Amino acid sequence: MYITRRERFSASHRLINKEISPEENKKLFGKCYNPHGHNYEIFITISGEINEASGMIVDLKDLKKIINDKIIIKIDHNSLNEVDFMKNKIPTTENLCIQIWHELKKPIQSLGGKLYKIRINETENNYFEYFG
Ligand code: NI
Repeated sequence: MYITRRERFSASHRLINKEISPEENKKLFGKCYNPHGHNYEIFITISGEINEASGMIVDLKDLKKIINDKIIIKIDHNSLNEVDFMKNKIPTTENLCIQIWHELKKPIQSLGGKLYKIRINETENNYFEYFG
């Protein structure tokens, strides 16, 4: 069985590789080298067996709290370049998926579920999925 929780957040980012020159960054990232923002949607999918006592895989209010405390509070209305778990990463949505996976994996295990997928919609046309 799978359940998915959706959250929304708005964040800015600037794609920059600190190992290379500004000119090379401009060439590599184009207009994404300029600070800009997105209204992101994130879908966190959990797999697991149904707990007989509760009839649930995990309690969604506990899942919501973990996602909020570990992720949303840190990234909403913030710059992804400044977020602690994105330090030293180019703040692409690919890297954001991977870092969020690392932040959520253990807390979700402690609820009795297994993190199955992180999906992030960056724009209407682009979304990213990570399965660990
Ligand atoms: Ni962007």
